[in-house]
Formats: sequence, C-alpha cells, structure tokens
Amino acid sequence: MQHPNDFEKTFRAKKILITGGLGFIGSTLGCRLADLGAEVLLVDSLIPEYGGNFFNIDEYKQRLKVNIADVRDEHGMAYLIKGQDIIFNLAGQTSHLDSMHDPYTDLEINCRSQLSILEACRKYSPDVRIIYASTRQIYGKPDYLPVDEKHPLHPTDVNGINKMSGEWYHILYNKVYALRASALRLTNTYGPRMRVKDARQTFLGWWIRLLLEGREIEIFGDGRQLRDFNYVDDAVEAFLLTAASDEACGQIMNLGSREVIGLHDLAKLMVEINGGGKFRLIPFPPERKAIDIGDYYSDYRLAETLVGWAPKTGLRQGLARTLEYFGKFREYYWP
Ligand SMILES: NC(=O)c1ccc[n+]([C@@H]2O[C@H](COP(=O)([O-])OP(=O)(O)OC[C@H]3O[C@@H](n4cnc5c(N)ncnc54)[C@H](O)[C@@H]3O)[C@@H](O)[C@H]2O)c1
Repeated sequence: MQHPNDFEKTFRAKKILITGGLGFIGSTLGCRLADLGAEVLLVDSLIPEYGGNFFNIDEYKQRLKVNIADVRDEHGMAYLIKGQDIIFNLAGQTSHLDSMHDPYTDLEINCRSQLSILEACRKYSPDVRIIYASTRQIYGKPDYLPVDEKHPLHPTDVNGINKMSGEWYHILYNKVYALRASALRLTNTYGPRMRVKDARQTFLGWWIRLLLEGREIEIFGDGRQLRDFNYVDDAVEAFLLTAASDEACGQIMNLGSREVIGLHDLAKLMVEINGGGKFRLIPFPPERKAIDIGDYYSDYRLAETLVGWAPKTGLRQGLARTLEYFGKFREYYWP
C-alpha cells in the first residue's frame, strides 16, 4: 500500500495521459501530478456542453501539455496513447438528461470510445496502467444502503448503461489481456473547477451558481434524498493511490463519504456557509423523476483496505473552499 508521501517517487518523470484533462476532476489531477514532477498530457475535446475549461489550468499552463482532441478519434487516440506509462481515463459525457435526449452521443463517448482506447492500449501500450472514472450512477436506485461493490447494477438512464459498459471493458481487458486496468466508482464530487454554469455535471454546481447570484435554489421532491459527497482533492487522491497499487489492477472500487446528508440539509448548510441565500422545495420535474435514484450512499471499505484511501475533507470545509473559489473566479465559469 502506497503512502501519499511516496507519490513523488511513483509519479516523478512518468509519462501520463489524462483524457478529459481540462475538465473538473481531470484538471485537478493534472495540476497535482505536475506538482509531483510527472510529464502530463491533457487530452480534451472542449465541447462547450461539457466541463472542460482552459481556466482550470491557468496557473499550470506552462507545466502541462494540452492536446485538443476527441476520444472518438480512434486513430488520433492510438497515437497519443503510444509510449504513455499511465492513463487516467476521465473523458466523458456526464449529463444524465442529455444522455436521454441524445443517447447516441453518450454511446459514442462513454461506451464505444472506451473500447477503442483499450484496443489502442492493447496494441501499442500493453504495459500501461489505466484507471477509469466510473460512477455510482450504474447502481441505479439502491436495493440497500450503504451500496457496496456487490450491489446489483441496474442503471436508470442511458448514461449509466454506457458508463457501466465503459467500466466493464476495462475490467475485461484486465482479465483477458492482463491490461493493468482499474475502475473507481465515483460518488458526487464537488470543488473548485467544477461546472457551475448549469446542472449538466451535477445539481450541486448549479446550486453554487444560484447561491452566488442571490437566486433561489430549487430542491426537487421532499428534500430528504440522501447523498454522499467527495471533495475533489479526495477523489484525486483515490486516483493516485489506485495508480500506485498493483493489487488494484482488475479491481472496481467505490468512493464515498462518512458524511451522509439530505438535500434539504445540504441547501441549509450551503446558505449558512454563504452567509445568506434562499431555497424552496418544488415537485420533481417528470423527466427527472423518471431517472431519479432516490437515496444513495456508498460503502467504500474496499478502497480503504486495498489502496488505503479515505476521504479527508469535511463537507463544510469543502463547500466553503468551493464557494470561495467561485466567488473569486466566477467570470471564468459563467457569463
Ligand atoms: N463529478 C462527479 O460528480 C462524477 C461522479 C461520477 C463519475 N464522474 C466521472 O468522472 C469523469 C470526470 O468527470 P468531471 O466531473 O470532471 O466532468 P467534466 O465534464 O468536467 O470532465 C469531463 C471532460 O471530458 C471531456 N470530454 C467529453 N467528451 C470528450 C470527448 N469526446 N473527447 C475528449 N474529451 C471529452 C470534457 O470536455 C470534459 O472536460 C467523467 O468520466 C465522469 O463520468 C464524475
């Protein structure tokens, strides 16, 4: 098991590719790896509806290489994958509603492109270490709580099905071709650099924008839906610990938090930290209700035992940092 203090030894001078590298989590991971002395290449399509944003790497632009490319470009990706030591595979279409309105784009990015990335690894970079950003969404509406990795998968939307396929391709390539692949099933992740322009990445980003604009937050349903949240630095730590662990090859691990909170209480907490704000309960819009997952929180003990991961940032502290960041840099995140 890797101690975070050894990260520099593990990642220094390593050639690392991050797909979705200008996005929220990918850019945070890229900056951290640059600090650890890695040679980082960020690949991102910068499609405006997704979370990619050049400002995310503003302070690091001299230390990170960027290639604006689309993971759907099979040949281009094969070229970029050749010679890499580690790939953090985070590119994705993240909106659940968009995946219902435009299922084929979600299929192309979250499913087909994942297979072609793995084919390129198999052919040109068979020793590469690859970590896939999967999601708790693939469990669907939980049968029991907390949700562990043995929980059945019954996704409630097209995005969940394609992310599940993307994840399983990684694990299949591990089993059949011994590709050194792992998957992390992320829960709601938040923090500086997240998409706050709209609710495409997560409702929490949208709430942050509403709060900072003095507008009212609308909570769907009775506001009692339970969720767990990870601050982005904790999610990044999980990616690093997983990449550094040989035992994690072929494994799927949940991320999660000890702090479980209802959405009504979350809104109250955010208003309190912000020093003001409004919220109200409204009935679920029907198209949201149709894909809602009810209550969710994770059992993340496997990640604890296998790679020594546990979240460190409390929700109050993480939200305060996030609100401060967007208060300062809002002009770079929404008009
Ligand atoms: N943020 C969360 O709460 C959360 C939860 C579960 C899983 N995840 C997963 O983590 C990963 C990163 O999510 P994020 O929150 O940073 O979202 P994000 O939208 O900020 O990052 C995804 C990045 O992928 C890029 N991208 C999308 N399609 C692409 C394509 N065809 N080619 C190249 N780049 C493309 C986007 O431009 C964006 O920068 C995603 O795969 C997502 O499914 C995130």
